[in-house]
Amino acid sequence: MKRIKSLVILILAILVSPAAASVVPLPHGAEAASGARKVRVTALQDNVLHIEMTDAAGHWPEAASWAVLAKSRAASAPVRASAGGFETDALKVTVDPSSLRLAVERKDGGTIIDGLGGGPAPSGEGVVVDAEMPTGQHIFGMGDKTGSIDRAGRSFIDWNTDAYNFTSSTDPLYKSIPFFIAAGAGRQPYGLFFDNTFRTRFDFGARRPGRIAIDADGGPIDLYLITGPSIGDVVRGYVWLTGAAAMPPRWAFGYQQSRWSYMSEAEARQLVRRFADERFPLDAVWFDIDYQDRNRPFTIDRKAFPHFEKLIADLNKQGVHSIPIVDLHIAAAPGQGYAPYDSGVAGDHFVKRADGKTYVAPVWPGPSVFPDFTQERTRRWWGRMFKMFADMGVGGIWNDMNEPAIFETPSKTMPLDNLHRISGDGFAPRTATHAEIHNVYGMENSRATFEGLLALRPNQRPFVMTRASYAGGQRYATTWSGDNSSSWDHLKLAVQQMESLGLSGFSFPANDVGGFTGGPSPELLTRWFQYAAFMPVFRDHSQKGAPRAEPWVDGESELAIRRHYVEERYRLLPYIYALAEKAGRTGEPMMRPLFYDYPQLLDSDCDQSMQFTLGGRLLIAGNPRPESPRDYQACLPAGGWYDYWTGKPAPTKRPLMITPRHEVLPVFVRAGSIIPRQPSVMHTDAKPDGPLELDIYPGPDCSGVLYDDDGRSIKGDFRRQIVTCAVDAGGAVTVRFSKPEGRFKPWWRQIAIVVHTEKGERRRMIDAPNAPMTAVIPSMQAP
Ligand code: GLC
Repeated sequence: MKRIKSLVILILAILVSPAAASVVPLPHGAEAASGARKVRVTALQDNVLHIEMTDAAGHWPEAASWAVLAKSRAASAPVRASAGGFETDALKVTVDPSSLRLAVERKDGGTIIDGLGGGPAPSGEGVVVDAEMPTGQHIFGMGDKTGSIDRAGRSFIDWNTDAYNFTSSTDPLYKSIPFFIAAGAGRQPYGLFFDNTFRTRFDFGARRPGRIAIDADGGPIDLYLITGPSIGDVVRGYVWLTGAAAMPPRWAFGYQQSRWSYMSEAEARQLVRRFADERFPLDAVWFDIDYQDRNRPFTIDRKAFPHFEKLIADLNKQGVHSIPIVDLHIAAAPGQGYAPYDSGVAGDHFVKRADGKTYVAPVWPGPSVFPDFTQERTRRWWGRMFKMFADMGVGGIWNDMNEPAIFETPSKTMPLDNLHRISGDGFAPRTATHAEIHNVYGMENSRATFEGLLALRPNQRPFVMTRASYAGGQRYATTWSGDNSSSWDHLKLAVQQMESLGLSGFSFPANDVGGFTGGPSPELLTRWFQYAAFMPVFRDHSQKGAPRAEPWVDGESELAIRRHYVEERYRLLPYIYALAEKAGRTGEPMMRPLFYDYPQLLDSDCDQSMQFTLGGRLLIAGNPRPESPRDYQACLPAGGWYDYWTGKPAPTKRPLMITPRHEVLPVFVRAGSIIPRQPSVMHTDAKPDGPLELDIYPGPDCSGVLYDDDGRSIKGDFRRQIVTCAVDAGGAVTVRFSKPEGRFKPWWRQIAIVVHTEKGERRRMIDAPNAPMTAVIPSMQAP
């Protein structure tokens, strides 16, 4: 007995003995092994680490990714070996040699993440990853997940799903963005991206308080850790890895009208005419599935739309862009002269069943086949088919149903053992099951569309809207939150989903304004318009059979409020477009939660669930119970604020209570902001009539940006000019214009400077400066 006991102790000692493990320095990181298991950590940047672990057979993850840019994967930062790990200029990484768990600290000692480890799942199927989650830590990101944007205490599944009529507790949803940001709990924030495309569960302390647990049905442990110091640094670091969102053309920031469906040419023309008659700005009209012949992609129903090409050309002349839907399912229509099917079969472009036969299943066109978008040559074939639309001059393309959605099956999607072929992107050419490809299928569909449009119209920004996507999908398309409902709850979800998508790399998200199913009450539709005026992309859309939701459906008084907010959006276009350009360059979200710019609000008791900023400086102070007439608190961070609508300094009393009014959505401007505005126009390509207005709200660090370009080119001239302001002791305001960057000639020739003060506005008109320039606006004489 005694001998058995000592034998057991000996075996245990060997198993956990540090002698059996080692941490070996690498040129840009360290590798550690314990038994057959290995972990490798390398520094891509001072604050971005790549963490890989071997699988049960001892293999490293494949050196390829759908999400991460090749150049970012290949990047490296200098490191110095240290006891049990290494250091970058910002971080200290330590690997425990027996458990292979990691701790990452700031150089000055503060823990960022502790106990991060993983390996093959105990069940033998898939992989698990977990880490410590300190009490009070908040979790953000995860793409379009619903409910509170703080994910702490809940669990989620990443599995792209057609979630028609979803609610605040529906999960999974349309997109899988396996990236989250942990913040608070007295630690510097970090982001963790789990680059694994299989069905994955994330548990943020729900099952096991104090632990973050991830498990996937298959695939590698291929992780990226991005550290702060700020949440903004984490988001920008994630975007550095996965790519910035494709910059939309300027018109995409105008008002967009959609409906399932505008059923005929006459109806579409009448619609656009009504916008003009109502003097309501309009930049785009969407064509849902009924413009097609029997719901077949790449066809046109010539009975309802005999002159579709002319319709689009005529709308273009009025500054209204057209966006037809083109779903991925191709009608299985052999021998009918349907080119997408015939050429797809000839080129062997469709997804196969496990038995090698082409997979056929029902969607909108009836029995359909599905392009194999993970093959480079299939993406090119798909992209070439957009020639008909490019020739017509469409504004963009809408890719829907690409989870992929399949009708008449309980799983709502393809069998998991369907076969895809992978070729390109650095992957070894191979066959992969649908279980592996499912979550990237929609992204690769939108990519094929994006690349097709780009090849057909080089140097023109493609505008693609997709429903399903994966991490990095922002490079190819904007996205919307899918089939929401006309309810107050969904207005709230829209705010939360737009914020979360922005933190997850999708800088230009949209939602069906007014709700897709159900039909909004007049009050709800008006409120939704007010919020959408300050969101990145504003598209009103509704389901077939649901009550109409165009701006005028509730009569003149509601229409007037809606018009006022949409016009205000057009007035703010110089500010919105400058933010968009920055988002497209750096990943900085346009619409963001308050704590993004004001971290002191992270643990505030003030209910921020309907309050957000547009670019950090405009604070939209919505009612956390948007249906309730009761007073609520504006969550204004410390410092000075102005009332956007009156231009007057906001009351300094705290808490600042707001009495809801139907016709007003309260907006505040940060003291120290310079906001460029323009006269309202009927569409974004129209030249504003009058000067650029520069609204100056004096305060600390007073600055703003003037930006302009041609609104459509990818590589083209631009112009960027920084403006700052300072107030002297006597109250005179000095406005300084920097030397402009870029040679583009902006539309404005004159600038109306408007200084907002307690006593009212002070104005001065100047010629737009092409060189550094200072303008002084004298203090206002006491009345
Ligand atoms: C899906 C889309 C919806 C669209 C409809 C018809 O439900 O999410 O936006 O209107 O299909 O194409």
